[in-house]
Amino acid sequence: MALLHLTFAPCPLDRLLKPGADEAHVWQVDLEAACDNWLSPLEQERAATMRHAEKQRHFIAARSALRLILSRYVEIAPEKLPLATAAQGKPFLDVPDAPQFNLTHARGKALIAVAPVAVGIDLEFARSVRNLDRLVENYFAPEEAKILTALPDDQRAQAFLAAWTRKEACLKATGEGIAGGLHRYRVTLRADEEAQLLSIDGNEAAAREWTLHAFAAFGDGQAAICAASPSLLVKGFAL
Ligand SMILES: CC(C)(COP(=O)(O)OP(=O)(O)OC[C@H]1O[C@@H](n2cnc3c(N)ncnc32)[C@H](O)[C@@H]1OP(=O)(O)O)[C@@H](O)C(=O)NCCC(=O)NCCS
Repeated sequence: MALLHLTFAPCPLDRLLKPGADEAHVWQVDLEAACDNWLSPLEQERAATMRHAEKQRHFIAARSALRLILSRYVEIAPEKLPLATAAQGKPFLDVPDAPQFNLTHARGKALIAVAPVAVGIDLEFARSVRNLDRLVENYFAPEEAKILTALPDDQRAQAFLAAWTRKEACLKATGEGIAGGLHRYRVTLRADEEAQLLSIDGNEAAAREWTLHAFAAFGDGQAAICAASPSLLVKGFAL
């Protein structure tokens, strides 16, 4: 797969961060590393409803990391950041001129994207996919299904997950979530192609308003970032 090469460097802590107009920052976070709990009372309540201890621990770590990272972009303490939630569930910072952001977590790891424009990020780890053919049929466009089902068995799951991350990053950027319809966002699927959003509801001009990149994270993790900008420079940081 033609991927964006991204390295995750330590970030300077002595100044307020501000991504450039067509720049996105991607933060890599280990959710098993010790961290302070910066959750709001509402987030604490949500955490308390989680019965699965690991899920709860990772939710607290991800939200705390998110708050800590965002506090480096606005001059507000992590625990005081006004995080709100849009209609379809996308969290946003309810502050004038605040940067936009998105979060993805899997297997104790998280990626957090911060940009001046709408941004979405998704991460999936290599694994076998149950009912792959049914998922492809239900969620992908017929032309895409044709490409994926023609692949040898040993390549299909990997290609499916790569495609899924690309589409989900787009749907998370717009805030629609999966319910918005993965089939509506056509993306490149072949191993030798760079990640690209090809069309939205068949409209190629609309797709050119967005940039999609795919990159590797945490070893065998496949990740994708999508942002509302015709070009996008991505910088990686480690917390
Ligand atoms: C949130 C969603 C977009 C993706 O969820 P996911 O892949 O399970 O989870 P991710 O870790 O990538 O993202 C979750 C985060 O996205 C953010 N999010 C929630 N709703 C969102 C939306 N509508 N748009 C953008 N971001 C959203 C939240 O920060 C959430 O983290 P939190 O719950 O800790 O606050 C959801 O709409 C969804 O439909 N999930 C179904 C996933 C699925 O079926 N996956 C199968 C893969 S083979």
